[in-house]
Amino acid sequence: MKIAVYPGSFDPITLGHLDIIERSAKMVDRLIVGVLVNQAKTPLFSMEDRVKMIQDLTKDYGNVEVRAFKGLLVDFAHECKATIIVRGLRAVTDFEYELQLAQTNKVIAPDVDTIFLTTNLKYSYLSSSTVKEIASYHGDITPFVPEEIVEKIKEQYKVDH
Ligand code: PNS
Repeated sequence: MKIAVYPGSFDPITLGHLDIIERSAKMVDRLIVGVLVNQAKTPLFSMEDRVKMIQDLTKDYGNVEVRAFKGLLVDFAHECKATIIVRGLRAVTDFEYELQLAQTNKVIAPDVDTIFLTTNLKYSYLSSSTVKEIASYHGDITPFVPEEIVEKIKEQYKVDH
């Protein structure tokens, strides 16, 4: 059984992330989306909200599960019995960081491989930070995130953030 993890902060999930989930889920038997509990950052959405949003958005995909994780990604991969880490590559600017992450993870856990999916061209410019910036100025975020979560994001900016 081929198990992969797709890790990230997903704060919030974008159409680019969802596209990677959809495509990678077709390549493996089980895909576990790992939502990072990052103590260093103050997220826009709580970990519970981020997990719930992704669960709702992926409820019709038979082989996708969503879990929160803290600590090292490779430990999470081992817990999940995953041998694959999936990451999306948007542009060459992502490459250096992603290569370092993948190579470091490979040293710590030689049994786990990272595979990269090139982001759909439609979303190659897109990031959660851009979405938050636009939302903070009350701009239109509908081209960037699943319609089911547009209002949830807008609500976060009704109060100051
Ligand atoms: O979507 P993001 O925020 O770019 O995802 C980054 C993520 C979650 C893949 C990365 O920060 C991560 O793996 N964090 C867990 C800690 C870890 O294992 N770091 C790598 C060893 S250097």
